[in-house]
Amino acid sequence: MCGIIGFTGQKAALPVLLEGLATLEYRGYDSAGVALWADGIQTVKAEGRLSRLVEKLKERSSLSLATCGIGHTRWATHGAPADRNAHPHATERLALVHNGIIENYAEIGAFLIERGYTFASETDTETAALLIDWFYGEYGDPQQAIFSALSMLRGSYAFGVIFREYPERIYAVRKDSPLIVAATAEGGILASDVPAVLAHSKEYYRPEEEILSVLEPGRVRFYTRDGAEIDQKTERVDWDVTQAQKGGWPHFMLKEIHEEPEALRRTVGHYLKDGLPYFGVPALDSPFPVRFHAVHIVACGTAMHAGLIGRHVIEKWARLPVSVEVASEFRYRDPILCKNDLVILLSQSGETADTLAALRHAKAKGIYTLAIVNVVGSSVAREADSVLYTPAGPEIAVASTKAYSVQCAVLYLLALRLALLRGQIGEEEGKQLCTDLYTTVPEAVREVLSESDRIRDCARELITAEHLFYIGRDVDHALCTEGSLKLKEISYIHSEAYAAGELKHGTISLIEEGTPVIALMTASHVAEKTLTGIREVRSRGAQVILITTEAIAQGLEIPCDKQILLPEIAEKFAPFPAVCVLQLLAYHVAALKGADVDKPRNLAKSVTVE
Ligand code: AGP
Repeated sequence: MCGIIGFTGQKAALPVLLEGLATLEYRGYDSAGVALWADGIQTVKAEGRLSRLVEKLKERSSLSLATCGIGHTRWATHGAPADRNAHPHATERLALVHNGIIENYAEIGAFLIERGYTFASETDTETAALLIDWFYGEYGDPQQAIFSALSMLRGSYAFGVIFREYPERIYAVRKDSPLIVAATAEGGILASDVPAVLAHSKEYYRPEEEILSVLEPGRVRFYTRDGAEIDQKTERVDWDVTQAQKGGWPHFMLKEIHEEPEALRRTVGHYLKDGLPYFGVPALDSPFPVRFHAVHIVACGTAMHAGLIGRHVIEKWARLPVSVEVASEFRYRDPILCKNDLVILLSQSGETADTLAALRHAKAKGIYTLAIVNVVGSSVAREADSVLYTPAGPEIAVASTKAYSVQCAVLYLLALRLALLRGQIGEEEGKQLCTDLYTTVPEAVREVLSESDRIRDCARELITAEHLFYIGRDVDHALCTEGSLKLKEISYIHSEAYAAGELKHGTISLIEEGTPVIALMTASHVAEKTLTGIREVRSRGAQVILITTEAIAQGLEIPCDKQILLPEIAEKFAPFPAVCVLQLLAYHVAALKGADVDKPRNLAKSVTVE
């Protein structure tokens, strides 16, 4: 939800902080700030984009010599975007940046007011800064002050803290929010996410929860609450800085859509062994009759839409009942979970608070949990019983694209593995399906990418629309949900995904002359029914853009205003090229409208609050 950065070393800290914040802006960008040690703690904050902060810093040239500091880019949760609410929050003795939410901030606030404190902001974070300050006044020791404050705080956090009396030190600690720490010859660095550290080190730590990291020039040490110094495992990433940068593309989103064929090939290939799916997870790879009798897929947003594709393919191939749940609803409806159920958590970031909470709920019920995530070592990955990584590389654009596609690919492989275990599919058929998933699917997506200009021509028809409908049946309806979200979140055009057969039960009253309708027809067994739906909306003036396959188009007279034919591919794999068309359509509409494609208003890449 927010991005934190910190550096202490042998060189100027400010450039490191600003570069890091620029890399982390996708995590939130309604205000930003830095605090540097320069003859005491100097704090500069600015509402709005990072460029506003950079402008303000030009008036503080003395800060360019500072070698220790922290920074923050914010996505507001408590207190509107404003200078006073931007982080860092500081006292005379310390400054603090925070990613997460302090849930008992009101209680802490009352505790502090009783002790003479006043507040300069409306944020929950300021209570954490002042609480640490109070304990620092009591004990005179940063570690004791921080751990004492953590004992009172409830909620999620990744803190970076500097103290006036310790000019070269940064303290960092996390719970539920991500934190990366690295030590290089140049200095110690902390950040909310890997891309911000990549320019400095490909090796880093992900400290355990409530383990205090102490960064100093050239080293980082880790302490438990009782003061014992401990080690932490290092991790290494094979991404390079350019991968986490745009590389000449106009937007990260377009770059990431074009990375799909390679991401799909890499992901599928990662899980093939002797031509069949192999996950290295005993519960999934065991030769015994599969232990799972039902599957619950739990996720948010685009990840949940990938779950809808997963349900389709797991039920079709493995004949296992699958439910797909919105993570923020899952635990509140006290779901019926049985000991032989499998709960799958889908998450690109692996830090989505709703999904993490759903994971914990399932684990608390003793249900086996499997995470499918894109970020190594993320919270969802670490807490699930097993994890399948989708090696799609960093996804920076707020709107998820390649992560969705590779999640679907892993779900196809999982469906196949379960089908093999349950004797629903033989090895030979399974090997052919894997070969197709590894070869023809990336190729079909590549062909769609080569049609990007034609898809942009369709997009031009939509840029003035205020309302749009996506209609389809069966798996096409599942695809429509993702197409609709993509359009809404980056172009700000309202749209709805509707089961084509459901439109006539009410919503068709909204169709009027010129209403754009995107009709998806990749599933031949329901094509004629969807055709009826197309005729219904067209007879009421809708402008229909049809996305279908050559085979279906040849077999039916389908009235439409524009048509996009998918590349030749087995129908069971049509969702992959189809969703690429929908992603490109949404992208071009937004780009043609001049929208901020990579950082849409009100959104953040990783929603780490519930
Ligand atoms: C994706 O386009 C959306 N920005 C959003 O719905 C996202 O899919 C959702 O927040 C879940 O994120 P996750 O995959 O990181 O858990």
